[in-house]
Amino acid sequence: MGDDAVSGLSAFRQVSCDNVISSYKSRFQSVGCGGVGGKNALAKKLETVWQIDPHTQSKHTILRRYWEAWLPIMTKYNQRVLYIDGFAGPGKYAGGEDGSPLIALKSARDHHARPKSEVVFTFIEKDKKRFDHLVEIIEQIKPTLPKNFRVHCVHGTFDDQMTEVLNGIDEQRAKLAPSLVFIDPFGFSHTPFGTVRRIMQNPRCEILVTFMYEEINRFLGHPDHLDTYDRLFGTDRWREALAASDPDRRRRMIHDIYRDQLRGTGVEYVRSFEMLNQGNRTDYFLFFGTHNLLGLEKMKEAMWKVDPSGTFQFSDFTDANRTMKLFGDEPDFEGLKNMILGRFSGTSVSIEELTNFVLSDTPFLRTHFKTQILRPMEVRGELSIAHTKEGRRLGTFPDGTVIRFP
Ligand SMILES: C[S@@+](CC[C@H](N)C(=O)[O-])C[C@H]1O[C@@H](n2cnc3c(N)ncnc32)[C@H](O)[C@@H]1O
Repeated sequence: MGDDAVSGLSAFRQVSCDNVISSYKSRFQSVGCGGVGGKNALAKKLETVWQIDPHTQSKHTILRRYWEAWLPIMTKYNQRVLYIDGFAGPGKYAGGEDGSPLIALKSARDHHARPKSEVVFTFIEKDKKRFDHLVEIIEQIKPTLPKNFRVHCVHGTFDDQMTEVLNGIDEQRAKLAPSLVFIDPFGFSHTPFGTVRRIMQNPRCEILVTFMYEEINRFLGHPDHLDTYDRLFGTDRWREALAASDPDRRRRMIHDIYRDQLRGTGVEYVRSFEMLNQGNRTDYFLFFGTHNLLGLEKMKEAMWKVDPSGTFQFSDFTDANRTMKLFGDEPDFEGLKNMILGRFSGTSVSIEELTNFVLSDTPFLRTHFKTQILRPMEVRGELSIAHTKEGRRLGTFPDGTVIRFP
């Protein structure tokens, strides 16, 4: 790891390559709390470290699995990749569990692929005590990190720091290096969509955002927060949800407006994972956005590991009451079959196009449809083969196969 690896409160290093995160002078900003939050969030906001929740552990599993899958792919073709943790936290939880910065560092350090590219980690934390705690934790792991890792801990706010980085990139007419940006706030006051949009306009950036649904819904329409909501969503369309009295419909509307906003930045693929609280109500959505179908596939694989039913949900309630089964463990293959038929009935489609559809337009994986859906359909005569290679066995669908759905 380089000499400047942990800059603590100091400046970021100047880097001249035009394909990198630009350097900028760290600034020390005292910013009021300003966030809107519930009791739990408020308690956490007051403590330097706090107890980890089961849903946070699930979030960390998704982060770790995705990062482990993403890193070897991106470092294969790029000399530099970035991991930016915009709300880094203190580094550890009260029970000694690793926070997201350590998860990113350790899984990269211990990765069997041993990435050779420069991997730049930037951890931004606003709270001074948590920042100091984080720096201490990072100092401990520093000697174990390979030389091609650079670590920057920045005391400041996500929005200010990212704006400065993005302004620098714009001035250089450059693009941000391939990045995974993790945006994990307590509340919703400090994640303006304008900044998210600017990040996602860089074609090789991916984001994982904690969208604090419960609080957002609780304060929706509050006269003190109208501007905050406009900034959070990057549109005033959220006001449409105020008219929805049915809670499920309202949740769907709020979710979909944010998803549509993410798509509107030019991000091709957006998926979300729903975290439920101890009362089994939606706490937040973890949104993932990427320009890359392979990235989407890897994220979906990570999400399936956390929820093997494919509903993309995790509940602290079911975690605490393990005997209660609210979601089936079996994926809903009948549902996937209906999606495929809804899209392709009466048409012919290549196996490649069908695979892309499953990956990009459904929650399912490429391993989910040939054996489970297409094979029984072929056996029952519910589909026919318009074209395939010679010698194909019944119920197999090699590349180049074209399927006709009646
Ligand atoms: C949910 S915690 C982050 C947890 C961490 N990502 C993890 O998974 O271990 C949110 C953190 O963001 C910090 N924070 C609050 N407002 C911030 C801001 N505007 N910019 C950067 N950090 C902020 C809080 O002090 C808190 O430590």
